[in-house]
Amino acid sequence: MRTQIAAANWKMNLTFQQGEKLLDDILAAEIKLKDHQKTIFAVPYPYLTMTRSEVAEEKNYYAASQNCYHKKSGAYTGEVSVEMLHSLNINYCVVGHSERREYFLETNVILADKVNLCLESFIAPIFCCGEALAIREAGTQNEFVTKQLEESLFHLTAEQIKGIVIAYEPIWAIGTGKTATTAQAQEMHAHLRSVIASKYGEAIANQVPILYGGSVKANNAKELFSCPDVDGGLVGGASLVAADFIEIIRSLK
Ligand code: 13P
Repeated sequence: MRTQIAAANWKMNLTFQQGEKLLDDILAAEIKLKDHQKTIFAVPYPYLTMTRSEVAEEKNYYAASQNCYHKKSGAYTGEVSVEMLHSLNINYCVVGHSERREYFLETNVILADKVNLCLESFIAPIFCCGEALAIREAGTQNEFVTKQLEESLFHLTAEQIKGIVIAYEPIWAIGTGKTATTAQAQEMHAHLRSVIASKYGEAIANQVPILYGGSVKANNAKELFSCPDVDGGLVGGASLVAADFIEIIRSLK
C-alpha cells in the first residue's frame, strides 16, 4: 500500500506551550501507526526542535518545517535555510503552500529551487498545488495544477520524484469550511497521478503520496481518505484541536 499521511499544518498559530501541550495530548492517544502510515507535524520554526524531541520515540511520527528559503545560505536576514533544517534532523518541509504563493509571491520557479535544496539535504518536500475559486469556476483547474507540477517538479529525475509528497489544496476550500466533495478530490488526485505517470510512468506515479488539504475535519476525513487516490490529508484548523486531529489520524487507510 502507498504511504498514507496525516499532516498537521499549524500555520502561525499556538504559543510554544500550547504547541507542546497539543503534541502531548495527541501522542497520549498512543495511536500505533502501521508501516505504511505516517503522521507529520508542520510547526513554526521555533518549535521544530521541541516537536522533533516529542516525536523522537514514536514510530512514523515526524516534525516538518512549514517553509524554507530558496537560497543555500548568505545575507538573507530572517530567513531559514534547508541546511539549517537538516542540521536539526528535520525530514519534511512544506513547499509552496498557497498562502506563501499569495502573500509572499512565491513562484513556480522559486519553488523548484526550494524542492532542489530540500532533496539535496534529504528533506522530503510536501509540495502544495491547487487552484483558486475563479479557476475552478472557469473549469481550467486541471491545466492550472498541471502547470504547477511541470514548472516546479518535472526537472526532477524519476528517483527524486519518488521522494516527493504532493498536497492538493484547492484554495477555495482552505479555512472556508467548504470541503471538496469526494468526487472532486478523487477526480483531481487521479488527474495529478496521471500527469506524473505521463512524465515518469505509472509504476512511479503509483508510489507518490497525494494528500488532500482544505477543510479536512474529524467528520469528513474518513470519507475523503477512502478515495483510492487520496493518500491522507494536510490539515490546518482541525490539526489545532487534539481530539479532532486524533480522529483524523485514525481515519488513515
Ligand atoms: P484548513 O484545514 O484550515 O482548511 O487548512 C488547510 C491548509 O491550508 C493546510 O495546509
